[in-house]
Amino acid sequence: MKDTLILGIESSCDETAAAVVRNKKEVLSSVVATQIDVHKEFGGVVPEVASRIHVENISMVIDQALKKANCTMEDIDAVAVTQGPGLVGCLHIGLQSAKTLAWAFHKPLIGVHHIAGHIFANELVTDLQYPLLALVVSGGHTELVYLKDENSFQVLGETQDDAIGEAFDKVARVMGLPYPGGPQIDRLAKEGHPVYTLAKPKTEQPMDFSFSGLKSSVLQFQARCERKHETFVPADLACSFQETALDALLSRVVYALDHVSGIRHFVVAGGVAANSRLRTLISEEIAPRYPEIEFTIPPLSCCTDNAAMIAVAGTIAYQHGRRSAFDIGAKPGMELVTE
Ligand code: KG4
Ligand code: ZN
Repeated sequence: MKDTLILGIESSCDETAAAVVRNKKEVLSSVVATQIDVHKEFGGVVPEVASRIHVENISMVIDQALKKANCTMEDIDAVAVTQGPGLVGCLHIGLQSAKTLAWAFHKPLIGVHHIAGHIFANELVTDLQYPLLALVVSGGHTELVYLKDENSFQVLGETQDDAIGEAFDKVARVMGLPYPGGPQIDRLAKEGHPVYTLAKPKTEQPMDFSFSGLKSSVLQFQARCERKHETFVPADLACSFQETALDALLSRVVYALDHVSGIRHFVVAGGVAANSRLRTLISEEIAPRYPEIEFTIPPLSCCTDNAAMIAVAGTIAYQHGRRSAFDIGAKPGMELVTE
């Protein structure tokens, strides 16, 4: 059978990325130009700055991805690009580049949902089994998504306020740690103990999430210590926050695993899947309780934003015959829907 080569392009936030993936599984190239160092100066992503850097980097990143894959646009079967959700100005840059390439070289264009990309990144390390439950944890999303098959998405629960990555980043910021804060909290928490009591997230629905109350609780704790001239151990605060956040996250996962019937595969997706404590808790405490379910936590390189995951999601859409019109626009609030 003829190979399927998909060029993936991602620019929804602060990484400009392009990749070529063969037959949904084999990453021929994956180039990521990160803007972290620029945004560090501001303590977070500045959308206008991010868009401008995407403009500067996108052509070079795509060119490198094709060269590293040792192919040209003639060899590519379709161009897949993140259509949303994300920062509108950032999404536009990837989308316009993808449209231009697809139009100029007479290739199909496929708009991809960023979260579908994160979920399907797991296809690079295992064969996904359906029905599948995905825990999506990133800087913009915290969701439990049920996939009856590879073309049907059902959001079972989602955050009612902040995403978990956003909470990690904000807590890190008030603790004076550099951006992005998630990996910093992860590192610092290893040196601490969960000795401080913080507000436990509460939600009306058993599979929804909430992290803004916990975040405020950390801010209030710190302010109280300052007011009373009391000292606290930063590593203990990082550890207490992380344990409380992960406990809330995983209690929803356990609820879903206990109540949704027929799940064959559980995967974690998104940047926060890189968290070492989350990885340990899932593999050592949750997975052994469900021997009938396959558990996959992707390697760190697949967790944070990249374009290989967009190419994989694009390949699945391509195989299902889905093509996008050339007049599609960026969708900053794009819903994860069944096509
Ligand atoms: O998926 P991603 O790269 O971008 C979005 O689509 O949002 O996720 C980025 C998020 C940031 O909030 C970052 O702090 C968090 O993932 N993150 C972590 C870790 N590594 C990245 N959070 C906790 N622990 C980590 N080790
Ligand atoms: Zn992402």
